Amino acid sequence: MAEEHSYQLSLTEHDPLPGLESFVPVRASKPPSTTTISFNDLLQPPLLLHENLKQGCGGQLWPAGMVLARYMLHAHRHNIADKTIIELGAGGGLVGLAVARGSQITKPLIITDQLPMLGLMQQNIALNSLENRVIAGRLDWGTSISPSLEAHFSTHALLPDERFPDVVLAADCVYFEPAFPLLLQTMHRLLGPETLCYFCFMKRRKADWRFIRDMKKQFEVVDAKYDDQHQDKRDGIYLYEVRRKPRSNAVQKELQRKTG
Ligand SMILES: C[S@@+](CC[C@H](N)C(=O)[O-])C[C@H]1O[C@@H](n2cnc3c(N)ncnc32)[C@H](O)[C@@H]1O
Repeated sequence: MAEEHSYQLSLTEHDPLPGLESFVPVRASKPPSTTTISFNDLLQPPLLLHENLKQGCGGQLWPAGMVLARYMLHAHRHNIADKTIIELGAGGGLVGLAVARGSQITKPLIITDQLPMLGLMQQNIALNSLENRVIAGRLDWGTSISPSLEAHFSTHALLPDERFPDVVLAADCVYFEPAFPLLLQTMHRLLGPETLCYFCFMKRRKADWRFIRDMKKQFEVVDAKYDDQHQDKRDGIYLYEVRRKPRSNAVQKELQRKTG
């Protein structure tokens, strides 16, 4: 039976990554289950999230995902209705699905991850009857955007060049060092002049700060302001607003050439 998930996640229970020194994805260390999440009744009806680690670590709920979903609902549920939104490394889709359930979005929100996560994302979309509001797509960081995702942008994006989403969501995507430059490449590809990225990460190892340092060099990064931010920081969870730095046309063209 589904259970209401306590927001105060036990970081030990939900944080197997520190033990993953070999970077092997967690596989089926916990049996598949379905969790009910309402964020203290902010979501009505509550969200149902199926968790299954068979296809990789994104198959369970993560602390930074819970923080980002709750923050989006508290701070932005009323001002993102008309935005084009894409989530990176969505895992089972918690953040995107919570936003879609909790706000009156008018354009399909796109949740993305690598191919093995596609089935779980689609399962969770269906479990919550959000097929009309959420689309799951494959997006491997550092690779060019597939023609079908590109088509969704073009159909729904309102920005001048019709190639950038308004909002990018990313939670708990910093844990695997070889993927750091790939994630930055994808952020360069997706963050247009008007795009705002809400980026929530949990610091687990020293190397994670290297990603944040590089992100701060390459983008404008400020702390998101919200009530629980000091407690979250004490728990090692940081939530940032990330924007593109102003660029010359030449630099922009070169980046676009590299990132497809
Ligand atoms: C720790 S999980 C976080 C899942 C979800 N955002 C959350 O907070 O619950 C990290 C996610 O990033 C995805 N990921 C890792 N490397 C990736 C890559 N190179 N391209 C796309 N997604 C990737 C994983 O598949 C996984 O779903």
